[in-house]
Amino acid sequence: MKTIDELLAEGVAGKRVFVRADLNVPLSGTTITDDGRIRAVQPTVEKLAAAGARVVVASHLGRPKGAPDPAFSLAPAAARLGELIGADVAFATDTVGESARATVAALADGKVAVIENLRFNPGETSKDDAERGAFADQLAELADVYVGDGFGAVHRKHASVFDLPARLPHAAGDLIATEVGVLKKLTEDVERPYAVVLGGSKVSDKLGVIDHLLERADRILIGGGMAYTFLKAQGHEVGSSLLQEDQIPAVLEYLKRAEEKGVEFVLPADVVVSGQFPDLGTKAPTEHRTVPADAIPAGFMGLDNGPETNKLYASKLADAVTVFWNGPMGVFEHPDYAEGTRAVAQALVDSEGFSVVGGGDSAAAVRILGFDENAFGHISTGGGASLEYLEGKTLPGLAALED
Ligand code: 3PG
Repeated sequence: MKTIDELLAEGVAGKRVFVRADLNVPLSGTTITDDGRIRAVQPTVEKLAAAGARVVVASHLGRPKGAPDPAFSLAPAAARLGELIGADVAFATDTVGESARATVAALADGKVAVIENLRFNPGETSKDDAERGAFADQLAELADVYVGDGFGAVHRKHASVFDLPARLPHAAGDLIATEVGVLKKLTEDVERPYAVVLGGSKVSDKLGVIDHLLERADRILIGGGMAYTFLKAQGHEVGSSLLQEDQIPAVLEYLKRAEEKGVEFVLPADVVVSGQFPDLGTKAPTEHRTVPADAIPAGFMGLDNGPETNKLYASKLADAVTVFWNGPMGVFEHPDYAEGTRAVAQALVDSEGFSVVGGGDSAAAVRILGFDENAFGHISTGGGASLEYLEGKTLPGLAALED
């Protein structure tokens, strides 16, 4: 992979450099609630601009359906990038249309533009190679050079991630270089004990990574919505908690394999339950209580780890030399259900081991809960991407930058 510094050494002044970033930030209306992903690509944008490139930043945001949708506009992200770099950032209101062509044509050396959400064009995410290729051809007209720096999207075989770099001289940005360097540490000679904390809502999203980790990790701690499928698999009633009944056979198989291999699987001992899902808009206080994880009453749903679980998980993380964490432990967006996620984050901060927080949600959670990012070994910008990397999959966006 060519690095950005090698690219700079060749000279980029006056060249149009397409930076595929991941500006997929959480929004409340048009307000960005966590700008971590924008800050993560800022050094690459600044380096290129300082070297006199005409920087064209592109990204997806959310999952619009292949057509313009104002709710998913990148305009707020473009404005935030401008604030961060302390310079005007031009914004094109389309992806490859008149606005994008005119905006890029008007860029002076050292200036930056953002084009609108790539997923407003159906070619971006198409499964059809020709349709994706046609969109990549149009994007290629906007640039002379490609820099891949959207780590969060490298697991997507999308036009701007996979097809476009094949059409332009390309290099990897600093963010991708850093992310890959850290994840390599977790897949090669990992320092032990190696503990992994997995949360989030769906077991099905984590099957591949659990399968892979059973061969590598010493301890796997489970939390979040996916924990209830594990509890149910162990024969406990889970009330109206999130449940993926069809995943129970896979879960049982993992529990059995873990036992055979001596991998410690840790499940919640107690959980915080409520009769209903909280309002994340008003964040109004809710009625909730803590119950043992094997005694969730009918009609109640588990929404967070309880205090016993928090202590248990902290003790399992205290002596870990390497920790990977993906997925919140509960509905951390609501103050009544944030403690489990906060407790895991605090345990990582307190531990002297190397901790990697992988993922959009868990990364946003540690910042939203007020933790200092520097207290962690590494906060990844990629959720799905870091999981697929750990699974050992070939990631299209990295493969495309290889040659
Ligand atoms: C993410 O949020 O994990 C990345 O931005 C990728 O987004 P996607 O899952 O919608 O492709």
